[in-house]
Amino acid sequence: MDVILVRDYEEMSARAAEIVIAALRQKPDAVLGLATGSSPEGLYARLIDAHTNDGLDFAPVVTFNLDEYVGLGPDHPQSYRAFMNDRLFDHINVKPQNTHVPDGLAQPLRAHCAAYEEAIRQAGGIDLQVLGIGRDGHIGFNEPGTSLGSRTHVAALAPETIEDNARYFAGPEEVPRFAVTMGIASILDARRCILLAGGAGKAEAVAAAIEGPLTSQVPASALQMHPDTVAIVDEAAAARLRRADFYRWQDRNRSQILDRL
Ligand code: PGA
Repeated sequence: MDVILVRDYEEMSARAAEIVIAALRQKPDAVLGLATGSSPEGLYARLIDAHTNDGLDFAPVVTFNLDEYVGLGPDHPQSYRAFMNDRLFDHINVKPQNTHVPDGLAQPLRAHCAAYEEAIRQAGGIDLQVLGIGRDGHIGFNEPGTSLGSRTHVAALAPETIEDNARYFAGPEEVPRFAVTMGIASILDARRCILLAGGAGKAEAVAAAIEGPLTSQVPASALQMHPDTVAIVDEAAAARLRRADFYRWQDRNRSQILDRL
């Protein structure tokens, strides 16, 4: 895994935006895998800015979100569909029919999960997957213990996740207990991944995911198996990384090496 250490949330968002924008310039009809939560909000604001002020065209882009709460429809203000419309889709020219978020009201859910996997396949697979990381090391709603071979499935939220996500709801009891989420194997199929992590609350999960053993107990550690993942980590979230100096050195010298390839 490549690790880019940055000062703060702004720099994390700016580095992520550079990568996504470069990917879209190179492949205008790219398939993007998207995430909800605080981590990618700054990235989305920059993508909106690139669209509004630099003409970045989202018309040919296709998107697939990682997850959605079971029981919340698209009109529910806390649904991930509503989050994505509000933070990104309503402000760019992506075609609504090209934006995919799992349907938390689908019945039967199991068939919907299989259809979601199939839709990703039909679209040609995900070119670039944006990820946050949970305090417990989850990616998507793949909580500790989720099979590293999992595909899109219905998952139970871990207590830490319910606590963390309660900030979007009236209280923890309002947070749905289940979600539809792309699985770890579905995420690993993406051609490239960007993991965004900021804030002291993520420090332990970040260290375990990047430098700890590969284990289903830390779902994000599965990214160690992925051939093209970059983790963009701010200072607070990097506090427990042991090889921080090396990552900084590598990042400083990256352009020299890339120029010669
Ligand atoms: P956050 O959530 O971006 O709101 O910190 C990340 C996650 O739970 O995956």
